[in-house]
Amino acid sequence: MKIVLAYSGGLDTSVILAWLKEQYNAEIIAYVADVGQQEDWAVIKEKALRTGASKVYVEDLKREFVEEAVFPAIKANATYEYKYLLGTSLARPIIAKKQVEIALKEGADAVAHGATGKGNDQVRFELTYRALAPHLKIIAPWKEDNFFTSRSDLIDFAEKHGIPVPVTKSKPYSMDPNLYHISYEGGVLEDITRSYDSSMFLMGKDPFELDDQVEMVSVSFEKGIPVALNGKRMDPVKLLQEANTIAGRHGIGIVDIVENRLVGMKSRGVYETPGGTLLIEAHKALESITLERDTMHYKQMVEIKFAEMIYYGQWFHPLRVALQSFIDSTQEVVSGTVELKLYRGNCVVVGRASEQSLYDTNLSTFEAGSNYDQKDAKGFIKLFGLPMEVFARKNPWFKK
Ligand code: ARG
Ligand code: SIN
Repeated sequence: MKIVLAYSGGLDTSVILAWLKEQYNAEIIAYVADVGQQEDWAVIKEKALRTGASKVYVEDLKREFVEEAVFPAIKANATYEYKYLLGTSLARPIIAKKQVEIALKEGADAVAHGATGKGNDQVRFELTYRALAPHLKIIAPWKEDNFFTSRSDLIDFAEKHGIPVPVTKSKPYSMDPNLYHISYEGGVLEDITRSYDSSMFLMGKDPFELDDQVEMVSVSFEKGIPVALNGKRMDPVKLLQEANTIAGRHGIGIVDIVENRLVGMKSRGVYETPGGTLLIEAHKALESITLERDTMHYKQMVEIKFAEMIYYGQWFHPLRVALQSFIDSTQEVVSGTVELKLYRGNCVVVGRASEQSLYDTNLSTFEAGSNYDQKDAKGFIKLFGLPMEVFARKNPWFKK
């Protein structure tokens, strides 16, 4: 049997590697995805081989992640439950897709991952496997009968197999970093009555600990895709990194929420998504001048469903793809530049410009001489209100 394991180099997936090899008497291919988390890939590769992998793939997925997941999400202003910009949710299908490609290339029988049975990530991995290669067996050790149920058993196993157990006190919460965001959950954060410790942030500073400093930045888009910062064109990865640096130094994009997991429970998550927050704020402002009203309002409804499907791991779902076509079609006109002011966690839109702008002072001005005839509004309101009037006449009791 041949298994391709999504491997991070941490304690859990190292134990899983050794355990799978023993349990299934299998050949294990370790697959490491680089979605922008800062790691020493040579060290991780070496560790996987030492732990028993026959082969290690380290795949740089940063470009795919930004172009195929993050930017499409920005076009959709994708946000789960008002606040979460879906940094982890977006990365999982990209990671799992490459894993499937490797499994097919290697003629593997199974794919394995280290997500627990209590979270969302398991769903995102497994739905992607099933959509792209339904014949592959899926092994998720945390949900297998013979796997460890206690931390101390897992550590015993690690020690027996020469897997280094971190001696430094590990972080009192779990993190998932990538190019778009860092998530923090679990551990000390499970007490929702207490604030997070602001020293944990790595992409930016806590806005409450910043000096008074204002910075102006401009973001330019072409068809809904960010292409330049402060007038400087950059490739997608560079642009997102730069947006993170700029927004991070002003503490932009930190949220602390209690969210509904797909598997039923509520959980607390703290996220920092500096660049993404800046880009989405700018994008919304550009849409406000370029999208026609009904299209924009309908898109708002689509965005909620789109974000929910991403959170639920339904990236390779025909409905998500169909909604994407709708979103992409709306973006044909979303080109232009937005200027923002960054200050202590806030990013405030101060100016917008677009060749496609529908904003027409001549129409909206209250000054005389516009080519809008106020008298037209008389008939319009009469007909627009007709159904309400007819109902009210018939139902005198109705005084809502
Ligand atoms: N709650 C977030 C989500 O569902 C973050 C998950 C973080 N995952 C992790 N393995 N630490 O997308
Ligand atoms: C996990 O349970 O593996 C991480 C948390 C999540 O997927 O929501």
